[in-house]
Amino acid sequence: MSIRMKLILSYLIITILPIMLFVGFLHLVFHIFFDQLEEVKSFYNFNDNEAVEEFIFQDIVVIAEGLQVMKELDEQQVLRYMDHAQERLAQRQIGIFIESNDGFHASTIMNHDLQSHLLHESFQSENLSNGYYEGEEQAWIFLASQEENLSITLALNITPVQNLFKSILPTIIMGSIGLFLLISITLTIFMSRHFSVPLKTLAQSAKNIESGNYNHPITLHRKDEIGQLGTSFEKMRHSLKRSMHEQMKYEQNRKELLSNLSHDLKTPITSIMGHAQGMLDGVMVTKDRQEDYARVIYNKSKHLNHLIDELSLYSQLELEQVPFQFEKVHVNHYIQDIFEGFKLEYEEITWTLLNECSHGDVQIWADRMQLFRVFENLLNNSIKYMDKTDQTIHIHIKKIENEVQIDIEDNGRGMTEYEVTKAFDRLYRADSSRDQQTGGSGIGLAIVRQIVNAHNGKITMNSRKGEGTRVQFCIPSVK
Ligand SMILES: Nc1ncnc2c1ncn2[C@@H]1O[C@H](COP(=O)(O)OP(=O)(O)OP(=O)(O)O)[C@@H](O)[C@H]1O
Ligand SMILES: [Mg+2]
Repeated sequence: MSIRMKLILSYLIITILPIMLFVGFLHLVFHIFFDQLEEVKSFYNFNDNEAVEEFIFQDIVVIAEGLQVMKELDEQQVLRYMDHAQERLAQRQIGIFIESNDGFHASTIMNHDLQSHLLHESFQSENLSNGYYEGEEQAWIFLASQEENLSITLALNITPVQNLFKSILPTIIMGSIGLFLLISITLTIFMSRHFSVPLKTLAQSAKNIESGNYNHPITLHRKDEIGQLGTSFEKMRHSLKRSMHEQMKYEQNRKELLSNLSHDLKTPITSIMGHAQGMLDGVMVTKDRQEDYARVIYNKSKHLNHLIDELSLYSQLELEQVPFQFEKVHVNHYIQDIFEGFKLEYEEITWTLLNECSHGDVQIWADRMQLFRVFENLLNNSIKYMDKTDQTIHIHIKKIENEVQIDIEDNGRGMTEYEVTKAFDRLYRADSSRDQQTGGSGIGLAIVRQIVNAHNGKITMNSRKGEGTRVQFCIPSVK
């Protein structure tokens, strides 16, 4: 249930309950009161006049008719009538008071207080009246009617009802207030707990996150707005934890890169400086030796140049600053040309090409020049890290659903599992001392992956130490 709904319900309870109690109380009052009125009604029935109407005050009409009858009677008959009525009404606490303007009056009412009050009241008001009289000890409600020289009054003793009200009214009022307070306090405690406990949990969790502790999950087990807030909080905690992890990984990578870079730059520069110094000191006496020194300086500078070029390309790719010229490329011709070029250059290697796309006109969206870098780097790796005399490089092209899959497999020196996981990292070389001689900067595969990703493709590597390596990449084909 939503918080809004809970608040509405609790306020409804707080508002409606006292109203219900009040209505209940009124109901009780009227119940007692109307029970008494029934007594009055039955008196009219006894009088055998017209039937008593629904509401007591309408029966005044009947009284008037009663008066009409009375006028015809003599004093003795009235007194008999009164006696007879007295028998029937005494138990019911209803009294009759009759008075004529010539001074005659008859009454079944024993209370002198009421009698003198009625004597005083009679003939003062015209027609019908009703009222309430409270003596020293007793209280009545009465209905009076007068016609010409005769008036008749019915008085109902309501002392027991009044006493009852007096005794239960404070209890009912106090009980209602008590119940109202109890419900309000219970609801207030419930609602405040309902909100404060989860809010405290969220506050604690925010503190944990603030202090860099992302490991405490937030579990609120509720579906309302606070529950939704908890879920969003939990998602935020997860993404913060993830980004913090990535940040740390990135930092670690950056440190490694810096240390690798400084090492990779320092080594050739030291060598260049050493050889240049040697030349300046006149170490080499023969022309051959002079040439050797110059060649070393040239090769090291070339290596440095290559490293800087590769690094700058890599960072441009990472910043997405390299403009790709995508066009439809026929896989068949494109790869065949590259294959022929390498085959001509490296005749000592046994080259095989299994092209499953040779019959269909399979095309891919690619930047020819950048994709060539991918083939060049992968094939150069296979050639560079070849340690067998019987050297083979196998290329396999096939179309799988909406992709063209290219495998390049060699029987070179291969890599361990760990080396494979690191191979696509920047500046990683499996065997740095040996790979230094091969001229590798360790950034080629990182560039390859960036280019394949830019083509919306994927690249994976499988290798076995001493047996060979297979690199597989996929590029989406043109539909
Ligand atoms: N086919 C392969 N066989 C064995 N080892 C490989 C192969 N391809 C890559 N490696 C290993 O992975 C490392 C990273 O390769 P990568 O192409 O990124 O760098 P590199 O060849 O050393 O330098 P360059 O930047 O000039 O390409 C290599 O140094 C090598 O140790
Ligand atoms: Mg390479």
